[in-house]
Amino acid sequence: MAFFAALFALALAGCALARPTASTLTGAFTCVDAADFTLCQNQWGAASGVGSQNSTLLSASGDSISWSTVYTWENGPNNVKTYANVQQNVGMGVQLSDLASVPTTWQWTYESQSDGLRADVSYDIWTGVPPTGTAASRNSSFEIMIWLSGLGGIQPVGSQTVTNVSIAGFNWNVWKGPNANWETISLVSADGDITDFQVDLKDFFDYLIAEQGVASTQFLQVIQTGTEAFEGQASLLISNFSVAVNPQ
Ligand SMILES: *[C@@H]1O[C@H](CO)[C@@H](O)[C@H](O)[C@H]1NC(C)=O
Ligand SMILES: *[C@@H]1O[C@H](CO)[C@@H](O)[C@H](O)[C@H]1NC(C)=O
Ligand SMILES: *[C@@H]1O[C@H](CO)[C@@H](O)[C@H](O)[C@H]1NC(C)=O
Ligand SMILES: *[C@@H]1O[C@H](CO)[C@@H](O)[C@H](O)[C@H]1NC(C)=O
Repeated sequence: MAFFAALFALALAGCALARPTASTLTGAFTCVDAADFTLCQNQWGAASGVGSQNSTLLSASGDSISWSTVYTWENGPNNVKTYANVQQNVGMGVQLSDLASVPTTWQWTYESQSDGLRADVSYDIWTGVPPTGTAASRNSSFEIMIWLSGLGGIQPVGSQTVTNVSIAGFNWNVWKGPNANWETISLVSADGDITDFQVDLKDFFDYLIAEQGVASTQFLQVIQTGTEAFEGQASLLISNFSVAVNPQ
């Protein structure tokens, strides 16, 4: 009897929260859909090292999501092993010139991290000439990364071209370089870790159009946010991420 009563109580709790049960991804390329998002492990560079990683969906509702990832990776200190990330599936296919606002919130913390951890916490935003395009595809013109953290001396693609420019109330170093058939532009926090980020991403698009040669006719194709793990052990908690694309 006690066993069935406990199950029943759990079922009720699940209903009351109206949220997905926490689910943990363990497969290298497994994903789970939740509200507006897809959470994916994306262990694309795992072959350059040794280790494992698991990612857990904690809750999701509309354009907000909470998740965590835990990993241990060794070898190949300059190689990205994984980009565990959430992708916003709603609101893509808008030209940059037609964006009214793209409000975003990102609150995160390392619950644990090894000494000398090499990892970033980053947006990975993709634009291109056609309205649709998957990340890192033949439709990609620009990969726009925003690094809220970059630990252990890791560097983005290309070379640093601008030092300490102020955008959306924070200071950034800009890195630029070619990457397959697209160009990667990375804005790396010059203020250290930004663990409570609440801005309008339109400020970044306006800067990239005005100063970095990104055409305003480019379409927003993909917004992903997550962590590139290079080397070390960490448990990263994203207590709240949200992003909404509001066209004019
Ligand atoms: C990930 O999950 C697998 C399978 O449950 C486990 O063997 C591995 O130790 C986990 N990795 C981490 C970093 O927790
Ligand atoms: C590239 O864009 C075309 C035209 O919009 C679309 O049909 C195709 O699915 C896109 N390909 C990828 C890989 O996203
Ligand atoms: C960046 O510039 C701001 C002023 O805009 C200054 O307060 C800050 O110390 C600079 N940061 C670095 C790392 O140079
Ligand atoms: C997450 O942030 C969004 C935007 O600020 C907010 O609307 C939402 O209530 C937050 N969710 C949680 C669980 O704090």
